[in-house]
Amino acid sequence: MGTDTGLRPGLEGVVAAETRLSHVDGNGGRLLIAGYPVESLAPQATFEEVVHLLWHDRLPSGAELSALQASLTARRTLPPATLALLRAAAEGGCAPMDALQMATATLRLAAPAPLGIEEEARLAVAALPSIVAAYWRLLKGREPIPPDPRLGHVANYLWMLTGQAPTAATVRGLETYLNTVVDHGLNASTFTARVIMSTQSDLLSAVVGALGALKGPLHGGAPGPALDMVFAIGTPERAEPVLRAKLAQGERLMGFGHRIYKVRDPRALVLQQAAAQLYDAEGDRGVYGLAQHVERTAVALLAEHKPAAQLQTNVEFYTALLLHGLGLDTALFTPTFAVGRVAGWSAHALEQHRHNRLFRPQSAYVGAEGRAWPYHPETQIAEVAG
Ligand code: COA
Repeated sequence: MGTDTGLRPGLEGVVAAETRLSHVDGNGGRLLIAGYPVESLAPQATFEEVVHLLWHDRLPSGAELSALQASLTARRTLPPATLALLRAAAEGGCAPMDALQMATATLRLAAPAPLGIEEEARLAVAALPSIVAAYWRLLKGREPIPPDPRLGHVANYLWMLTGQAPTAATVRGLETYLNTVVDHGLNASTFTARVIMSTQSDLLSAVVGALGALKGPLHGGAPGPALDMVFAIGTPERAEPVLRAKLAQGERLMGFGHRIYKVRDPRALVLQQAAAQLYDAEGDRGVYGLAQHVERTAVALLAEHKPAAQLQTNVEFYTALLLHGLGLDTALFTPTFAVGRVAGWSAHALEQHRHNRLFRPQSAYVGAEGRAWPYHPETQIAEVAG
């Protein structure tokens, strides 16, 4: 063909939507959540306050916050069919993200149809933690724990996972994590949600689609490998030789580098500080110190190894450390990411719904030309073979 088709593989550099929800400044290393710098909002706000901010573009009054909390609390209990599906999935040893995606599709059984877009948003945000926690317990051969209406959204998630009253430090740590990852521009799962909404489909379908996109290792894929790397290094003296050997073998260091951020991902700092507070309060400070040493060593070696690439710490590195400090198994890392990101997906879905334009990009055709009917199997075989 030879002419410029305007093709942008992966839509890199294409601006496909306007949003007031978050601004990712990759060169400046800044992230705004509805106007607030992530480093001031995430460690101070409750998750419910951030949900209100995203849905209504302002923080709630006291009465609005109480109303939102009550509406989420009322939607935490899973329909019996959802629980039955989770039991069957656990018997089959299904991966937690697969179970979460399947179960989310059944949430419309929670109320008579049609639910309406705002109701679906409340349901999705309220019920995802219940699904993750119930499934995790079933997978471990234990019974799900019913939600506790006296607890806030984040404390209740920890309660349903562990059956133990969470400490203030643990709740704050997880709240900061969920706020930090709540929204991040037009990432793959958010884009998926907006594409689905743009067909005037429903919000639960958008969330189910977004979960499918998040599952992939190039997106929500586990920060588990970053944690494994720190544990495999084990002691500070081993950091440099182990990391040098990995780079010499052409391996990528997990938790470093980003497609958009060319400076340190601002979320890494927020999560590092949250991890420091948590490990100070109740964790193994040795693990935190080791991780910091591994980070410093990795950034220095990457600068030597690929000076032009500007490889810095990304969100995954301290996500791993923080969630591990909170006592979460690595298999829960991506589902817990979804528990936070669902607030962003639902807000993007509402935004798309209000200012809709059907997503319909074009493709550049690179297939055959001039094929003609009738079809002769022998000729066709000869053509393929030739
Ligand atoms: N360790 C070692 N080398 C790395 C690296 C890493 N973590 N990240 C990038 N590089 C290298 C690449 O191999 C490439 O080298 P080359 O030019 O010789 O091929 C160079 O740096 C430039 O990388 P680039 O192509 O700009 O990266 P990308 O935009 O395709 O990839 C990531 C971004 C996040 C996928 C990539 O940095 C990576 O794989 N990081 C490790 C996995 C990870 O932490 N993922 C979570 C992301 S939030």
